[in-house]
Amino acid sequence: MKDVMILTGAGQIGMAIARRMGYGKKIVIGDKSLKNAEAIAKTMNEAGFDAEAVEMDLSSRQSIKQLIEKAASYGEISMLVNAAGVSPSQASIETILKVDLYGTAVLLEEVGKVIKKGGVGVTISSQSGWRMPALSQEEDELLATTPTEELLKLPLLQAENIRDTLHAYQMAKRCNEKRVMAESVKWGERGARLNDIAPGIIVTPLALDEFNGPRGDFYKNMFAKCPAGRPGTADEVANVAELLMSDKGAFITGSTFLIDGGATSSYFYGPLKPEK
Ligand SMILES: NC(=O)c1ccc[n+]([C@@H]2O[C@H](COP(=O)([O-])OP(=O)(O)OC[C@H]3O[C@@H](n4cnc5c(N)ncnc54)[C@H](O)[C@@H]3O)[C@@H](O)[C@H]2O)c1
Repeated sequence: MKDVMILTGAGQIGMAIARRMGYGKKIVIGDKSLKNAEAIAKTMNEAGFDAEAVEMDLSSRQSIKQLIEKAASYGEISMLVNAAGVSPSQASIETILKVDLYGTAVLLEEVGKVIKKGGVGVTISSQSGWRMPALSQEEDELLATTPTEELLKLPLLQAENIRDTLHAYQMAKRCNEKRVMAESVKWGERGARLNDIAPGIIVTPLALDEFNGPRGDFYKNMFAKCPAGRPGTADEVANVAELLMSDKGAFITGSTFLIDGGATSSYFYGPLKPEK
């Protein structure tokens, strides 16, 4: 039996990380769009990987459990890559919270119950969460530790407290970072590590939707005025994932790594700073 990597989200970022770390493993690819999962599995299988596509919905605990059960039938689960998600231009507030916030929390919890000793996981949040002002210590703790089934009932996530889909996305991504901190303690009890990557603008179908959506000019301005002066690539996100998921990252767990070409720095202290 081979060790198994679970990849949720058959997008460019997920595939880039799976290609970097998934050699020699069975790779079970879950995506709400079976078509996307099959396309990525085909590309990977034609490049010598052993990948299988599965239809799954990150917003459903049952669907997550079925995916894990399927993965476990091939061997021990030693890697998790969560790159599934919806962006502010793609979905409603409710869907963003259900998929990006609740779904990610459930996935980290459920995989944390079975991850192999020495196993590693990464989930993808977003630089977007870094532009939102700090929450209070109590709010951070609620996002980190509220039992998953209670999360969406938190007052700070109710409709009257969420301005728009961007705000919902930022709250979801902030929650991802906090969940990773809290879950990494539990993963550590199994000898496993869990980290988070917060990318800036990475050219993928999701980002292209944003470029062509209502905030298109905002995004184009953002990469033009960040220190790197360009959007990033999924393979550069995989460079960070490789550090986090390999032995070189053995002392790194519960962390979030920002990879945004300096856009956040420019937003606070450079030309991207919003006018007061
Ligand atoms: N591309 C960027 O600029 C960027 C920046 C910051 C963060 N991110 C984050 O990176 C992650 C991956 O994004 P990407 O750019 O590779 O996007 P992508 O659109 O290429 O891939 C996302 C995948 O998630 C799947 N998905 C959506 N809802 C799902 C659900 N309920 N269950 C299972 N799968 C579902 C989609 O079908 C799609 O295949 C997302 O969490 C996104 O928020 C992306």
